[in-house]
Amino acid sequence: MIRSVIKGIGSYLPQKILSNAELSERVETSDEWIRERTGIGQRHIAAEGECTSDLGLAAAQAALNDAGMSADDIDLIVVATTTPDYTFPSTATIIQHKLGIKHGAAFDLQAVCSGFIYGVNVVDALLKSGTAKNALLIGAETFSRILDWEDRTTCVLFGDGAGAVVVSAQEGSDDGILSTFIRSNGEHRELLYVDGGPSKTQTVGHVRMIGNQVFKHAVKDIAGAMQDCAEKAGIPISDIDWFVPHQANQRILNGVAKRLKLDPKQVISTVEYHANTSAASVPLAMDVAVKDGRIKRGDLVMLEAFGGGFTWGAALFKF
Ligand code: UT7
Repeated sequence: MIRSVIKGIGSYLPQKILSNAELSERVETSDEWIRERTGIGQRHIAAEGECTSDLGLAAAQAALNDAGMSADDIDLIVVATTTPDYTFPSTATIIQHKLGIKHGAAFDLQAVCSGFIYGVNVVDALLKSGTAKNALLIGAETFSRILDWEDRTTCVLFGDGAGAVVVSAQEGSDDGILSTFIRSNGEHRELLYVDGGPSKTQTVGHVRMIGNQVFKHAVKDIAGAMQDCAEKAGIPISDIDWFVPHQANQRILNGVAKRLKLDPKQVISTVEYHANTSAASVPLAMDVAVKDGRIKRGDLVMLEAFGGGFTWGAALFKF
């Protein structure tokens, strides 16, 4: 049986840090409000001219390094992003070119903040079907470019960054992806969306969100997805070592942990330092916990996310 095994992980954050205090000079907000309601203390912002493909490339190179593999080994690149460099070509093909790869396939995947979880599902299926042998799955975003910097209800929440994993098809391994679960429901589009796009407005648009309503759906749907994903693998939630959630709001992380009776120490949080980096947030948080020694080889890890669409999902693997 083929298993999709995570061989390496890496991430990249732009140099510039924007503090809550700096934001409170632009819009009517405060460090106290942002920390209390979200847990966010700062966010990284891409430099002028620094694009999603640049962030994704740096994360991909770090992941390849960690895996001890070269770009030549890669025959599939999937980039989860809502903020591509261009409408087309895909950011994945731009990164493919920057890595000097001329073989295999590359494409973008759009599921907003759930993009990386959707990507795990797609990459797992393509590796198991024999379509590819070694994949780069990248979550990369320059969300700062689609924020309305005068809207305090959204501009304080997001940041830029990228995370990547190298995933390889391995015969007869006990490690790797054990189960994935993805869902969507377009019914609540007006609660979280971008008010522009090439076909509708011929503009890029800005993020709009009714945050408190999204919050309620997020906690319920994430907890449900995690339960379904664990059940699919036949593994009780209590056996899982680490939970790596999408980093939208510390109160969402706490709410899910309470519902599923998780020990908060098992829940990886980077909300304070990264804010919400959409599709990049899960691999960024996982990289932090791998590098600081919390997540070790052989550990059972569950990823989860919720985002625009609505989209949501979870993935369980043995690292
Ligand atoms: O990644 C995709 C998924 N996204 C999410 O999961 C986000 C989910 N939602 C949230 O994280 C939270 O709902 C927010 C952080 C967005 C908002 O927190 P909340 O506790 O739900 O606050 P609220 O929206 O109910 O607003 C409370 C008050 C309002 O004032 P009034 O109407 O009570 O006078 C807002 O206008 O806080 C006000 N407010 C702010 N005040 C200071 C909203 N944004 C700010 C701000 N600074 N930045």
